[in-house]
Amino acid sequence: METRQDWSILLGMSDVNFDQKPETPKRGGPPILSCYDDLAASCAYGWSMLERGVKDRKSPFHTPSVATITANRGPTIRTIVLRGCDTEARNLRFHTDTRSGKIAELQANPQGAMHFYDAATKVQLRLGVRLEMLSGAEYDAAWQATQPMSRECYQVTQAPGSPLASPQDVGFDAQATRDGEDHFVPVRAQVETMEWLYLAARGHRRAHFDFTQDTMEWLVP
Ligand SMILES: Cc1cc2nc3c(=O)[nH]c(=O)nc-3n(C[C@H](O)[C@H](O)[C@H](O)COP(=O)(O)O)c2cc1C
Repeated sequence: METRQDWSILLGMSDVNFDQKPETPKRGGPPILSCYDDLAASCAYGWSMLERGVKDRKSPFHTPSVATITANRGPTIRTIVLRGCDTEARNLRFHTDTRSGKIAELQANPQGAMHFYDAATKVQLRLGVRLEMLSGAEYDAAWQATQPMSRECYQVTQAPGSPLASPQDVGFDAQATRDGEDHFVPVRAQVETMEWLYLAARGHRRAHFDFTQDTMEWLVP
């Protein structure tokens, strides 16, 4: 049965307050992150959230958005599953189909963006990334680690996004696609910049990290 509370969710009412003026912290509110006023610690916290996003399927960082630039329709964006995070090397990994639109887009323009938001901690990360298809040993390791269920996605005989007369017309062929390997590709997102935004009642915190220049600074939220 619907209650008034259900409607408040449907109507988009939220406990997120983006007003710039700090509030008096409410008793019983979420504890402030220990990295609150520490630039380097905020960066490290962001990377720890990304690492957790790979391992924890329930983490909102498990399914970020990746944006690319199309040839003639401006930017486009989609959800992917975060498969890898190498904090030291500053890169992330996701898997896709070689025939998908995002592959043609990243081949024409490797600059992309990724977006993450964790409503529990109220942390948003906006990443500037350089996208690259992996090959050789990195490709093999990623393919070997895929589950049979994931492999099925790549056994589709028609290219993803192809028009269909009927939704039942999708074909799968494990043999003809070498179990799906013919169409599988891991993509590395080399993180060039990270923008940290932390919404906190006592005052928001926003920071920019440039891993190509090795610089970091606070920004007006
Ligand atoms: C929760 C969720 C997870 C997804 N994970 C992936 C993924 O890991 N890789 C992928 O190629 N598409 C994934 N998709 C589908 C993409 O969002 C997108 O629809 C598809 O890849 C086609 O995108 P493109 O035509 O822009 O390349 C996922 C969608 C959802 C809703």
